[in-house]
Amino acid sequence: MRPIVIAANWKMNTTPADAGGLARTIASRTREPGVTRVICPPYVSLAAVRDALAGEDVAVGAQNVHHELAGAYTGEIAAPMLAGLASWVILGHSERRAYAGETDAQVGAKLDRALAAGLRPILCVGEVLADREAGRATEVVDAQLRGALEGRDPVALSAAGLVIAYEPVWAIGTGRNARGADAAAMADAIRAGLRSLGWGGSAETVPVLYGGSVTSANVDEFLTEPAVDGALVGGASLKPDEMAGIVARAGLTARARGLG
Ligand code: PGA
Repeated sequence: MRPIVIAANWKMNTTPADAGGLARTIASRTREPGVTRVICPPYVSLAAVRDALAGEDVAVGAQNVHHELAGAYTGEIAAPMLAGLASWVILGHSERRAYAGETDAQVGAKLDRALAAGLRPILCVGEVLADREAGRATEVVDAQLRGALEGRDPVALSAAGLVIAYEPVWAIGTGRNARGADAAAMADAIRAGLRSLGWGGSAETVPVLYGGSVTSANVDEFLTEPAVDGALVGGASLKPDEMAGIVARAGLTARARGLG
């Protein structure tokens, strides 16, 4: 049985002074049996959010880790540094791929670092608009998946609770969300990709989230799709009212699927 996951990606927003309060407000308004909640603040707010969430069943995640363990990488954060601060990590977000030039090979190495540090990874994949319009969306996502996962042990990755987030780049922060049916078709394609990488039946146990302009008003479209197991939420995740609506809707899906 796959969990229903709602992950908040706060991106480069909040300060250590206000992150804890926001996390506590969101946590108190999103208590839904059967929904796994994750909040991913900026690195410098991880401690504040962890402390604010003491006693709440909400996980704390980082938004990235470096692909090396240590060394001369000014300004970077390595996976072991997150010990005690985070238990999840977002990897290969399209903004990191676009603005920091992250490659599939680096994203794969980040997966290794995350697993070694005991962090649960959310691997992000997604095509740009030109790829979708040219009918290449599935091919691009499959190549990203292959680039990060090929040669890596499906048993270790599924034991670590790998989550995959399908985030079409053209839908991120644009207010233009994908259709539920497209997200479901991509979730199926992702699981087919995992099977072709030797995952066998474990492909069915990997949660696939949708991300890209998710709000309380459109989340229903994704959560009614049996292939989709939750959402990675950006802009709306900074708004407690939005998170309350999104997680409440996720609770309905969790109950419908016999969770919680
Ligand atoms: P958005 O961001 O919800 O603001 O589109 C989603 C994401 O980038 O994870």
